[in-house]
Amino acid sequence: MQSIVRTSPNIALIKYWGKRNTIKNLPAVDSISITLDNLWTEMNVIFSSDLSNDELFINEKKQNNISRVKNCIDSICGEQRDYASIMSRCNFPISAGLASSSSSFSALVVAINSLMKKKWNTQLLANQAGSVSGSAARSILGGIVKLNNEPEKIRITQLLSPNDWPLRVVIAITDKKEKAISSSKAMKLSADTSPFYSSWVEDQNDDIKEANSFISKKDFEGLASISEHNCMKMHSIMWTTRPSIVYWNSTTIDCMHAIRDLQRNGESVFFTIDAGPQIKAICLPENEEKIAKKLNEIKGVQSIMTSGLGSGPIIEK
Ligand code: PMV
Repeated sequence: MQSIVRTSPNIALIKYWGKRNTIKNLPAVDSISITLDNLWTEMNVIFSSDLSNDELFINEKKQNNISRVKNCIDSICGEQRDYASIMSRCNFPISAGLASSSSSFSALVVAINSLMKKKWNTQLLANQAGSVSGSAARSILGGIVKLNNEPEKIRITQLLSPNDWPLRVVIAITDKKEKAISSSKAMKLSADTSPFYSSWVEDQNDDIKEANSFISKKDFEGLASISEHNCMKMHSIMWTTRPSIVYWNSTTIDCMHAIRDLQRNGESVFFTIDAGPQIKAICLPENEEKIAKKLNEIKGVQSIMTSGLGSGPIIEK
């Protein structure tokens, strides 16, 4: 019994930060993201009666703490099951603010679903992936994806396909280390202590509506303005958490200034940053080369990855 699934991470333009239900892992706010194509996780899952426990290898390295993976499999298959051997390959740094949990858990859920022949629809897959990692739900679809909160569940919809608006993303990697605090822990701290958390949650629907309208018109400058604003609001919540959570380093800030310079020179580009120090510059295809060159010249930028918008999960076997 083997399944191989390849999935790409997604980057939020209108962010999710905070949970309304920690047991079901339901987000406190709606969000909008883009699913990438050039970054991926390939998950090879085998169930076998010969195994004496579940095992997980990431890029060939055996992992010790696999409780999230175990719980995810149990929640789909039940505890009376054969153990699983999972080989995960990822072509980008993991747990470093590049949304590796979104590609990993969406791939895992789709692979198990295919092995168990459950034939779950998109919404069930999204809810299952989201119950492990909130952002993973959005990687179940490609292109530009909206995640809506509904009573006791979430719903995902594709706003535009990758071909409808072929945006490009230039990622400046400034540090490959694992983040010091996981996003789940950080979100809880923010909800408990940031004085601005409740207004972040209250105002999110305005940002969603604004972004939605710019996306439907393919208005790049409008989307740039609301996305950067929403990103900075999320980081303000992190910064005003007690103790404060700062995922950036000095190169992150240098990259932000470089993007501001590019904008002043008329380039169509904007930045977004997640729970890590990497900068994601979203741009139009004609601006990509210049932006990649400029970011690559910044001291402290370790490498550049570029990507377009991609599809949802691909079942390879
Ligand atoms: O899905 P998680 O628990 O890794 O949280 C992701 C949170 C952000 O990446 C910072 C924002 C988002 O909407 O993806």
